[in-house]
Amino acid sequence: MVHVALRAAGFRGAFISFIIFALFGGIVAVMWYGASLVASGAMSVGDLVSFVLYTTFIGGSIAGLGDIYGQLQKAIGSSERVLEILEETPEALATAYEAVPLKGDIAFKDVQFAYPTRKEVTVLKSLSLRIGAGEKIALAGHSGAGKSTIIQLLMRFYPLDKGSIQVDGRSLEEWNLAQLRSHIGIVPQEVLLFGGSIRENIAYARPEATEEEIIQAAKKANAWQFIEKFPEGLDTWWESGASSFLAGSVSALRSRVRF
Ligand SMILES: Nc1ncnc2c1ncn2[C@@H]1O[C@H](COP(=O)(O)OP(=O)(O)OP(=O)(O)O)[C@@H](O)[C@H]1O
Ligand SMILES: [Mg+2]
Repeated sequence: MVHVALRAAGFRGAFISFIIFALFGGIVAVMWYGASLVASGAMSVGDLVSFVLYTTFIGGSIAGLGDIYGQLQKAIGSSERVLEILEETPEALATAYEAVPLKGDIAFKDVQFAYPTRKEVTVLKSLSLRIGAGEKIALAGHSGAGKSTIIQLLMRFYPLDKGSIQVDGRSLEEWNLAQLRSHIGIVPQEVLLFGGSIRENIAYARPEATEEEIIQAAKKANAWQFIEKFPEGLDTWWESGASSFLAGSVSALRSRVRF
């Protein structure tokens, strides 16, 4: 990335230097020739001044073309990524959204699962598990055992190969996806913070959250102490790709805003 950026900067620098050199070289040549014409009486001073002015305007516009080309390339790259997302086919919705209350009884029954991209590795083999509403549990196991996979299946990111998962006695297929997921708060292993203000990052799941709610969520996630210390507080702007420490804390509290 740095290499490509440096190469692009090199080309841009060379191009701009060339244009500036040509532009000023041109002006000097025109002035020199014009001055000799004025001295011999073949041209008036006014004609010379307006000619130089026009040349400067035209030269400046041509110099700007290089930048426009670069910007066009950038815009094409970004719009391709946006279009990729827009062209995704939405997940099929089995049922309409109905705001039924959710208790939170979870049951995995004989679940078997392999990732669609790696069918030959069965990640979960006849997994059965009951988690009662209000119960707090932790899944412990070696790396790659399938803990994160269990959570992803609970949110129905992938279809099961065998078995079933039930929430409140209803199979996952019978739940409206938006409704099911609106009851799940997740702090992912890989932290992610969007470019934008801390406020926007916290209220991402609920854009209509009030200032008070956002601060409450930040306090619950023990993040308010350091957010408060920033001169701009909640409006501190975050460039994507910045410190992952803050990203972790903010994504932890983003999931809390939901509840
Ligand atoms: N998107 C994916 N495509 C294919 N295989 C995957 C994918 N995600 C995970 N796996 C594989 O599934 C298995 C279980 O992964 P999972 O992420 O659930 O483990 P984990 O228990 O959460 O591990 P960790 O403690 O490292 O977080 C691993 O063998 C992993 O390589
Ligand atoms: Mg994991």
